[in-house]
Parts: sequence; structure tokens; C-alpha cells
Amino acid sequence: MRNILITGGTGYIGSHTCLPLLKGGYKLTIIDSNVNSTPTSIERIKKILKNNFSENQISFFKGDIRDKPFLENIFSNAIKENNPVEAVIHFAGLKSVSESIEKPLLYWENNVFGSICLIDIMTKYECRNIVFSSSASIYGNTSFEPILETSEIKPCTPYGYTKVAIENILASIFKSSKNSWRIANLRYFNPIGAHESGFIGENPLDTPNNLFPIICRVANGKMNELQIFGKDWPTIDGTGIRDYIHIMDLADAHYAALEFLFRNKPQILNLNVGTGNGTSVLELVNKFMKVNKCNVPYRFTEKRLGDLPFIVANNTQVTSILKWKPKRNIEQMCIDGWKWQQKNSNGY
Ligand code: NAD
Ligand code: UFG
Repeated sequence: MRNILITGGTGYIGSHTCLPLLKGGYKLTIIDSNVNSTPTSIERIKKILKNNFSENQISFFKGDIRDKPFLENIFSNAIKENNPVEAVIHFAGLKSVSESIEKPLLYWENNVFGSICLIDIMTKYECRNIVFSSSASIYGNTSFEPILETSEIKPCTPYGYTKVAIENILASIFKSSKNSWRIANLRYFNPIGAHESGFIGENPLDTPNNLFPIICRVANGKMNELQIFGKDWPTIDGTGIRDYIHIMDLADAHYAALEFLFRNKPQILNLNVGTGNGTSVLELVNKFMKVNKCNVPYRFTEKRLGDLPFIVANNTQVTSILKWKPKRNIEQMCIDGWKWQQKNSNGY
């Protein structure tokens, strides 16, 4: 079994990605500081898989990627056990755009310094395959066209800058080591929803500030109302448009990226992972209420600082290179996300 290190593996995207990887027969070494997650997600993954995995396929170690001795232990123990880490899927990072504006140094330290520590130890142990969680927030999109990977890189928040910095570090490592690295920067658009079982899902430990978890909390009465940021954007209904992607489709994209890297020569890929379809805030709220037969009271408020009207992926690259395609529509995202919320109204 090929051993894959999953940093940030108990978090939202990491935990969902574990499923296709375990089904695909990989061994997963999961590390997480649990600054924004709990290891309970791993128990839930096992519950979903029932008896269709072996216990030695998953190990979890609590620790921080900035702790180099901790990382060294992971890599050296894997060698001692005759199962070296062959690739890393690097999810670990802080992801709140607003918090990054308030505490930029925390974001540079955690995300960028943390990634440097990880890449350094990977280099030392000759593990040169990495799938990195990048973000659509690196683009400074001001047009109403789907965004290409070659579009202008112009983040408008410290969070976005940390993603650009990590992509740049990976690009220089790639150049410096005579093309021995296999790197996939997956630039996610807006992942929402949950695994169809409702056993795992998004579990923000703090007050959520993304649209979908807020819709879920308003629907089950944990929050009073949704504030819609702006009603006069130049869009079909005046509200912001995003490219929402089902979390399990995003998980499958990681599996496809990893397999692609293993099968192909050293290279560096930048891929937009989205559906290519735009949905407005109002469309999403209305769809959620309709398919789940529930009520989401909302009120229009001021625009949020730094928001953009239209962020949708041109996903031609990812679909043609990885032979991956998103399969689940907005209705499914709403149904599965609501199922998770109802089964776990207080999180894990
Ligand atoms: P998440 O917070 O649920 O998962 C991130 C995990 O990383 C958490 O479990 C957290 O405890 C862990 N972590 C953070 N700093 C760490 C550190 N220094 N050492 C070890 N573990 C650490 O978030 P997510 O939505 O699953 O996001 C995963 C990755 O994808 C992040 O890098 C995020 O920036 C990126 N991303 C997310 C989105 C999104 O909308 N969810 C969009 C684009 C990119
Ligand atoms: N919105 C509201 N009310 C809210 C929250 C959001 O109206 O309470 C609106 C926003 O204005 C925007 C849309 O809903 O039009 C989506 O907002 P999110 O905060 O859910 O998502 P963003 O597109 O702003 O950002 C997210 C992640 C980033 C990631 C980016 C990728 O937070 O980390 O998607 O596009 F990089």
C-alpha cells in the first residue's frame, strides 16, 4: 500500500478526500494540529467505510506542520516501517479570509512557514510528490468571464497572498532540483455540501463566515438570519456569483491528481477545480429552501470588504488533464449539506 501523508486531514476537505483514497487502496498517514478540527472525523470515516478498509490503512498523529522534529518523526518512522511516505496532500492551513486581514502574521507564519517546514522535510526524505490546496482567492478577477489558470494572479487578502507564496515556493523548488518534483496546485473554487451519509461535513469551530455553513445554521435556527452582502452587484439578480462544487467531487479531484502525478513524469500543474457554473447567493438560498423544504430568512446588507461579483472557474484544464468531471449538482450539494447539519447540529 502506497503511504500518503495527509496534512490537515481531519479538516473539512481533508476528511472527505480520505474516502476515495482509502477506497483506492492507499495507506494514509494523517497529521493535524486540530486548530480547526477534531480527530472524530476519522472515526466517522471508518463508520462510512464499515468493513471495507483495514485498520492499518489509517494512522493519525496530532501535531503541527511548523514542528520540524514532529514531521521528521513521521517520515523517518515510515521508512523504518518499510513504507516511506511517497506523496503528500497538503491541506493544513488557516483559511479565514477575514481573520487573515486582522492577523496577517498568523497566516504567513502558519501557512507559509508551515509549508516551508513541510517542503524542507519532504526534500530531506526525498519525497517529491505533492498535491497542494490552493485557492481561487489568488485571482483578482474583475471580469465576468470564467477564470483561466493564466488569468492575472492578484489576491486581495493576506490569505490569498499566502497561497500565492506557497505556489511560488513550490515553483522555485521545482526549478531548483532539475525537475524531479511532481506538483499539483489545485485552485479550489467554493466547496460546499457533505458526504451523502451525513456522517462527515464542514465543522467550523468558530463562528462560520462562509455562505453555505451560515445558510445551514439559519435553516436549523442556530442563527437568526442570513445577511446577504449587497443587492446591486452587476449580476442577474444583484447578488454575488460563485462556482460551488460538491465536496465529494473535490475529493475525487484529489484522487485523480495524485494518480496522475504518480503515472506521469515530473511536472508542475496549476489547475482550477470548479464546475464552471456560476450560482448567485439568492439562487443558492432559494434552491436550498426548495429542495430541503425549509426556511432561510435573509436580509440585504452592505457589501463585504474585498468581495468580488463573479468568481467562476474555466475548468477545461482540470477536466482534460485529470479526466475528472464534477458529477453532483447544486441540488445534491444542498441536500447533502443539510443532511450533515441536521444529523450534527452541534458539529462532531
Ligand atoms: P479546515 O480548517 O477544515 O482544514 C484545515 C486543517 O488544517 C484543519 O483541520 C486544521 O486543524 C489544520 N491545520 C491548520 N494549521 C495547521 C498546522 N500548522 N499544522 C497542522 N494542521 C494544521 O479547512 P478546509 O476547508 O478543509 O481547507 C483545507 C485547505 O484548503 C486549506 O489549506 C484551505 O486554505 C484550502 N482551501 C479551502 C477552501 C474552502 O472554501 N474550504 C477554498 C480554497 C482553498
Ligand atoms: N455571502 C453573503 N453572506 C454571508 C457570507 C457570504 O452574502 O454571510 C456571499 C458573499 O458576498 C459571496 C458569496 O456569498 O458573494 C460566497 O461567499 P463565501 O464567503 O462563502 O465565499 P468566498 O467566495 O468569499 O470565499 C471562499 C473561501 C475562500 C476561497 C474562495 C475561493 O472563503 O477561502 O471561496 O473562491 F479562497
